[in-house]
Amino acid sequence: MSETETVRVDLGDRGYDIVVGDGVLARAGELLAPVLSQDRVVVVTDRNVAKLHLETLQRALADTGIRHEDIVLEAGEQTKSFGALEQLLDDLLGRGIERATTLVAFGGGVIGDLAGLAAAIALRGIDIVQIPTTLLAHVDSSVGGKTAIDTPHGKNLVGAFHQPRLVLADTGVLDTLPPRELRAGYAEVVKYGLIDDPDFFAWLEGHGAAVIEGDTTARRRAIVTSCKAKAAIVAGDERESGDRALLNLGHTFAHALETETGFGDELLHGEAVAIGMCLAFDLSVELGLCPPADADRVRRHFAMVDLAHGLDAAQGRIWNAERLIAHMDRDKKARDGRKTFILVRGLGQAFISREVENDDLKALLEEAIAA
Ligand code: NAD
Ligand code: GLY
Repeated sequence: MSETETVRVDLGDRGYDIVVGDGVLARAGELLAPVLSQDRVVVVTDRNVAKLHLETLQRALADTGIRHEDIVLEAGEQTKSFGALEQLLDDLLGRGIERATTLVAFGGGVIGDLAGLAAAIALRGIDIVQIPTTLLAHVDSSVGGKTAIDTPHGKNLVGAFHQPRLVLADTGVLDTLPPRELRAGYAEVVKYGLIDDPDFFAWLEGHGAAVIEGDTTARRRAIVTSCKAKAAIVAGDERESGDRALLNLGHTFAHALETETGFGDELLHGEAVAIGMCLAFDLSVELGLCPPADADRVRRHFAMVDLAHGLDAAQGRIWNAERLIAHMDRDKKARDGRKTFILVRGLGQAFISREVENDDLKALLEEAIAA
């Protein structure tokens, strides 16, 4: 059996393990059994994941005597909507789920966020287990209990905190992920280095290509390091009253870009985050906070792994700085009308700022749009 590593999210009696390794999916039944309140689960997944990996999960559950039903949804960000949430809840209630039934979110961040929210509110809250299948979900969305849907007013504006009982991250499942999705997820891996771990960023400069290309050991190390970083932040600030906001490095920009492009294929979430992190570094340089060489290093690294990181990633789109700023004004992190940005004093030195002036922001965006 190949090696697995376990990371603990230390939240007292709501704490849980993240089990990372190649082949974890085939052991899902045995790993899940100890956290189930009854031998019944409902698996929520999307069409792409169902086609490729649902059978492995079904077999693992059946082998352990866990009764399972499956709900297969359309793939894509559009599924994080009020309509899809209503349908999912209707389906779950129609199946006669009980308080002791566990939902299994089996997919990327879209399925994790939607099923997580359904679990948070169905029967006033039932258990959820996350089995992430994208790199982004392995290192970010499956951990920490944030769940949400998008609305026409913006991304993730309706949601709840609902921690999973267990996270099973099978690195082998990532082999079927389209390369563009893999690279987009890699942006969230890099994020942890940029926030407070320059040694990890330096390691990624040397091993990022191996992570992308599927080297099992490099992949596991990248995922475990990312999960440890996230687990530590979540354990210290579960509901984002302080340092958890650091995890939003690049996200104030990213959410505005995604709102503008309509949460579609034009710009994937991770791509928007990569662009947003570059803009956060540029803004920090413009404000005299960060050495320009550090911003260059981030761009060089994204270019090296072939990850889109400039506004031209959305080909043919004509951006408008004022529209982007208007989207940022509706960001849920805004406080007393001030936008929240994560800025940097250098690689691995991120901090929270509500001091950014609209004039500086507009100048930065206009420069990036013109580039
Ligand atoms: P996704 O869930 O849409 O998955 C991307 C695509 O890959 C989909 O088409 C999916 O069907 C396909 N796919 C998934 N696993 C596959 C596999 N193993 N093989 C082949 N295809 C596979 O997107 P994502 O990037 O995983 O997640 C993005 C979402 O996550 C966004 O909505 C974002 O807001 C959310 N998010 C949430 C958090 C959080 O803390 N809750 C953190 C970061 C991002
Ligand atoms: N992805 C940001 C957070 O979990 O807080």
